[in-house]
Amino acid sequence: MGLIQIPKLQIGDLEPRIPIVQGGMGVGISLSGLASAVANEGGIGVISAAAIGMLEPNFSRNFKEANKRALRREIKKAREMTAGIIGVNIMVALTDYYDLLQIAVDEGADLVFLGAGLPLKIPKTLLPNSSRKAAVKVIPIVSSARAANLIFKYWERNYNHVPDAVVVEGPLAGGHLGFKKEQINNPDYALEKILPEVISVLKPYEESFNKSVPVIAAGGVYTGADIYKLIQSGAQGVQMATRFVATHECDASTAFKEAYVKCKKEDLTIIDSPVGLPGRAIKNRFLEKISARIKKPVKCPWKCLKTCDFKRSPYCICAALTNAKKGILEKGFAFAGANAYRINTITSVRELIKTLLLEYKRAAAQADFAQVSGLS
Ligand SMILES: Cc1cc2nc3c(=O)[nH]c(=O)nc-3n(C[C@H](O)[C@H](O)[C@H](O)COP(=O)(O)O)c2cc1C
Repeated sequence: MGLIQIPKLQIGDLEPRIPIVQGGMGVGISLSGLASAVANEGGIGVISAAAIGMLEPNFSRNFKEANKRALRREIKKAREMTAGIIGVNIMVALTDYYDLLQIAVDEGADLVFLGAGLPLKIPKTLLPNSSRKAAVKVIPIVSSARAANLIFKYWERNYNHVPDAVVVEGPLAGGHLGFKKEQINNPDYALEKILPEVISVLKPYEESFNKSVPVIAAGGVYTGADIYKLIQSGAQGVQMATRFVATHECDASTAFKEAYVKCKKEDLTIIDSPVGLPGRAIKNRFLEKISARIKKPVKCPWKCLKTCDFKRSPYCICAALTNAKKGILEKGFAFAGANAYRINTITSVRELIKTLLLEYKRAAAQADFAQVSGLS
């Protein structure tokens, strides 16, 4: 077993020691603390830019400036805490998406993960050019081969360039989901089903651009054995979020982490988010009041999401998620992946990664043994 090594994830010239990306988690769940801890263990740490400015004093005076200021500070802080690989997750649906992208580029993020919408139009600063050796790596997050193909086709036509990797997120993920409600439990949309579809859609682009485009699998990845299975199915890495919430280094409040430790399977529920997508969250009194329509529509001074229909929404999702981050769960709720109920303790990022690698090696050794003994 000592000889078994987890394969490398290579994204252009970036080569993390372990093929684990910590998924970006807003609002304020993955900031410099969690991202740098993951990067220090050899993974890719990711800061979520979503409504990051709501954590600033006086954010309401100038929401966009607060977002930019807070993101800049968190990237700088992460850089002070690690020499490892740091990315930024930016939702395409944010009204200040381009401003935040520019901050990530200016502050030298290694990669940007772009989800909740299709990253079709991108600024020139994201494209490689002769004067700058290492452009930031661009990684779209998709939930279907169709979405991957749309992005790659658009980039090929308009930029003669394609993204550096792709995250494929299945329906067991936490937070906003790229599926219709009725698709979530349909096996045709399971991660194991969509992963090979995305890989095969990317093949012709890899050939015509003579570049490898690694695929990173996400959504419900819980153990090292899960990582082993996904790598066997063609993924070059995994993105995990839920498991990283229950770590000391995670930037959420203790109350938020404890909501994970305490939750049961039946507490995990699908909500209709004001963003216009379904989302997976832990049921609580706040969400019950929302679904009973006890809460009143909000007024929205800054319109942070292109897709949020705030006039019809019973609450502000950014305020609710910011409250939850701070531990004020009576005025908010926690997003969580479908496996959150399996968590029963808070650990350190180092211990978690050690366990995942051990489980990976065990699964690989078992598969090898089954093969040589003719059991498989
Ligand atoms: C609390 C929480 C917040 C999240 N916030 C974001 C976000 O801001 N942007 C994003 O692209 N994905 C977000 N996600 C999705 C994760 O990055 C990740 O892809 C997904 O949860 C992976 O599944 P897992 O949680 O089962 O590991 C969030 C997930 C959770 C649990």
